[in-house]
Amino acid sequence: MRLFFALWPPLEAARALAGWAAPLGGRPVPAQNIHLTLAFLGAAQAAPAAAAARRARGAPHRLPLEQARYWRRSEIVWAGPRATPPALESLVQSLHLELFRAEFILERRPFVAHVTLARKAPPPGMLPALPPIDWPVHEFTLVRSHPQAAGSIYEVLEAFALQ
Ligand code: 2AM
Repeated sequence: MRLFFALWPPLEAARALAGWAAPLGGRPVPAQNIHLTLAFLGAAQAAPAAAAARRARGAPHRLPLEQARYWRRSEIVWAGPRATPPALESLVQSLHLELFRAEFILERRPFVAHVTLARKAPPPGMLPALPPIDWPVHEFTLVRSHPQAAGSIYEVLEAFALQ
């Protein structure tokens, strides 16, 4: 199974982000696929990943999406907070530690909180301002990715409450 952990936005926030990204060109991420990845596992087993996630600790918080940026190398347009909220930073650290203890291999690149909104996007020049987005974070999810020719389908396998 191809697995990752993510924050999933409320539907209204996802729709607003998808609407913002629609005119950018490239392959806009459909509203139902918009998420923020916390840890990418790749091919892995769901049960031990879920067990590690249950040991991770994190507090509920809000995710501010204040900036839209373009990464030339990966050709993606993304939205993210200007600074990662401390509660998100500690959740990611705790999750990565528990996954590491369970012998999952994670990428070494540092975590950058980003929500990909368009793939294969041409350089956009000046990006328009993002709409105001309310994204309360009460839980994180274990997600299975089903790669398809027309773009991945994501299946939420389990949600883990933050408290
Ligand atoms: P991206 O949006 O920056 O491409 C599902 O593929 C999610 O896992 C995406 O949000 C993707 O981030 C993220 N991800 C992180 N590392 C990845 C990798 N090595 N291969 C594919 N997706 C990865």
